Amino acid sequence: MIRARALSHSYDKGATLVLDDVSVELTRGCVTGLIGPNGAGKSTLLSAMARLLVPDSGQVLLDDLDVLKAPAKEVAKRLAVLRQDARVTARLTVVDLVRFGRFPYSKGRLTDRDHEVVQECLDQVGMDGFRDRHLDELSGGQRQRAFVAMVLAQETEFVLLDEPLNNLDMEHAAATMRLLRRAADELGRTVIVVLHDVNVAAAACDVVVGMRDGRVVAHGSAREVVSSEGLREVYGLDIPVHEIDGSPVALHWAMGARRPEPAVPVN
Ligand SMILES: Nc1ncnc2c1ncn2[C@@H]1O[C@H](COP(=O)(O)OP(=O)(O)OP(=O)(O)O)[C@@H](O)[C@H]1O
Ligand SMILES: [Mg+2]
Repeated sequence: MIRARALSHSYDKGATLVLDDVSVELTRGCVTGLIGPNGAGKSTLLSAMARLLVPDSGQVLLDDLDVLKAPAKEVAKRLAVLRQDARVTARLTVVDLVRFGRFPYSKGRLTDRDHEVVQECLDQVGMDGFRDRHLDELSGGQRQRAFVAMVLAQETEFVLLDEPLNNLDMEHAAATMRLLRRAADELGRTVIVVLHDVNVAAAACDVVVGMRDGRVVAHGSAREVVSSEGLREVYGLDIPVHEIDGSPVALHWAMGARRPEPAVPVN
């Protein structure tokens, strides 16, 4: 399990709390969706959980491992993270990026097993055909898929992804969520994924956590959180939610929409 205990953080010496005493426990082997408005603190929470940021106070535990005190190497063996603004400075090809994900295992000398995993991950995200392309020669969605492959190649127990569906078309967004489900269901990994599409969260996540103004304001099953009441807590909006094929569907695009007046018939 991954546990945040009383995490608080501010970027401006305490003037604004971006994480305001956040305590949350995320279950092993589950896909947890993290939702909330822009600026709610989702990326900051994920960064603290992944040891990319040291919060002002609080604790993060991966089972018994104290993330903020453990050596970076120890954390890297157990947790992989895709940042919202994932990019690399070096001019890498797709396959080199994914190989990079094997570094904690290979230390630069790839074994047959490393090559196998790299190939499998490239295939899983449908990027084998682009393996020798440089990252700066890809479309936004292709680049995003290469980064997802790099994260999966790390084969860690904990996988944290900040908006992995950015730039992905419908087919690849659905395929990526299936990959994350499979990582949890078949490989027992614990997956935390930041999503803006609450309907994807409802359809693909076991648990949904909603943040607003640096606090966790909703935490429950997809059905509980992706409900009119839950979405009001998280977004402060009245969003109609219907059930389709056993899954809640929020009609946020219909919010405040007005039907056009019927055209006046001209005689
Ligand atoms: N490096 C930084 N320096 C100063 N303020 C920051 C920094 N990073 C984030 N913030 C601020 O902290 C707050 C939370 O940001 P965070 O990136 O965690 O939000 P988020 O929920 O991930 O939003 P989004 O959905 O837009 O990605 C925002 O108000 C943001 O402006
Ligand atoms: Mg963010």
